[in-house]
Amino acid sequence: MMLHLILADCELERVPPEISHHRIIKWWARRRGRKPTELILDSSLFFPAIRKLENGSRRGRPDIVHRCLLVALDSPLNKEGLLRVYVHTRNDELITIEPHTRLPRTFNRFVGLIESLFLKGFTERKLLKMRKATLEEVVNTIRPSKTICFSMRGKPKTWKEIYGGVHPTHRICLIIGGFPEGEFISDVDHLCDEIVCVDPEPLASSSIVARAIFAYEEEVGLQMKRFARSGFEGIPQNDSR
Ligand SMILES: C[S@@+](CC[C@H](N)C(=O)[O-])C[C@H]1O[C@@H](n2cnc3c(N)ncnc32)[C@H](O)[C@@H]1O
Repeated sequence: MMLHLILADCELERVPPEISHHRIIKWWARRRGRKPTELILDSSLFFPAIRKLENGSRRGRPDIVHRCLLVALDSPLNKEGLLRVYVHTRNDELITIEPHTRLPRTFNRFVGLIESLFLKGFTERKLLKMRKATLEEVVNTIRPSKTICFSMRGKPKTWKEIYGGVHPTHRICLIIGGFPEGEFISDVDHLCDEIVCVDPEPLASSSIVARAIFAYEEEVGLQMKRFARSGFEGIPQNDSR
């Protein structure tokens, strides 16, 4: 019944060498006591430099990853140990996160954690680990029964249709873009069984993550299971799952 969630093509990277001499970046590097190329690219700080890069309007968005991870790790599904989250980046790095990780709630501390992850390849107690992997390699490691990709160009579907009849042995893998605009860089089409659209407007990645996890919890009746197990009094009895 495990749900695997890949945040794909995330706009998470270090400052590329071609803009490392930019005035703003050198100033931040001095302030943070890092080399310019050890800093995490952040469009809210470095926009004048980032816009010179190819695809500059979508790059440098560690905030998207932070928000998505907080939403996912805080979910009841994750508390039950039934969720695995993977962060795949535009440069084909893969970050794996232990489910019981308590991520920094503040953005600046999260960025500091990711800076050291890029430097060392792992964080304290190996809660986060990083290695090279294409999106295809990530999916192949999971060996899912079904892979569903979320995109505006997918087939319109309700959440009930997406998960209809999830079987306890199924390994469902979701692919959600970790970028603010545009399309997946990786070739998702040949990796997934279906591409679905869940709203007429593009929503933020974190909003799709929250809804995708909640809809899965509903499908497997997780809320009732948790209530029943905890012996909570006054829980509704009319749910047949
Ligand atoms: C801000 S959106 C990127 C917008 C992009 N133009 C698109 O077409 O999805 C980030 C990610 O959230 C998911 N997403 C956002 N809105 C969606 C929708 N209405 N239906 C399905 N997926 C959506 C997709 O995985 C997308 O890659």
